[in-house]
Amino acid sequence: MIYGNGVDIVEIRRIKEIIDNNPRFLTRNFSIRENLLFQEKQMRIETIAAGFAAKEAISKAFGTGIRGFNLIDIEVLRNELGKPIVYLNGKAKETAESIGIGSVELSISHSDDYAIAFAIAIVK
Ligand SMILES: CC(C)(COP(=O)(O)OP(=O)(O)OC[C@H]1O[C@@H](n2cnc3c(N)ncnc32)[C@H](O)[C@@H]1OP(=O)(O)O)[C@@H](O)C(=O)NCCC(=O)NCCS
Repeated sequence: MIYGNGVDIVEIRRIKEIIDNNPRFLTRNFSIRENLLFQEKQMRIETIAAGFAAKEAISKAFGTGIRGFNLIDIEVLRNELGKPIVYLNGKAKETAESIGIGSVELSISHSDDYAIAFAIAIVK
């Protein structure tokens, strides 16, 4: 059963500016495993931008926004076929459990200028 859904779109150029001005953006908001994924993908800015959009989309699917947890508590990785897989850790996991969410389905897309993510939270 679906608990909620969320979508987020980001301008890729804006994420590039943020990273250029503050390289710690990557380690503050993305886990070690996510940073390794970015390295595997040659630090493609559209992948990073979509990773950011994904976390905001997931927070909307929770119905909370980024509240009570940090972006780094939501991990977006890939399965062996390249499909995005969501792992909830720390306070994001606690939030999900407290409102009855068991898992999150996620889809990502990007063009030259924009990255978009759509999340569906599934009831436990
Ligand atoms: C909700 C949130 C993820 C929105 O992301 P954003 O990139 O700022 O804005 P977007 O344009 O992508 O999305 C805005 C839409 O999100 C929706 N939205 C707002 N709160 C929401 C919530 N709790 N759950 C789901 N959707 C929400 C609204 O429809 C809003 O559009 P509207 O203002 O026209 O109604 C973000 O604002 C957030 O996490 N807020 C809560 C925490 C907070 O206030 N932080 C401020 C800094 S500490």
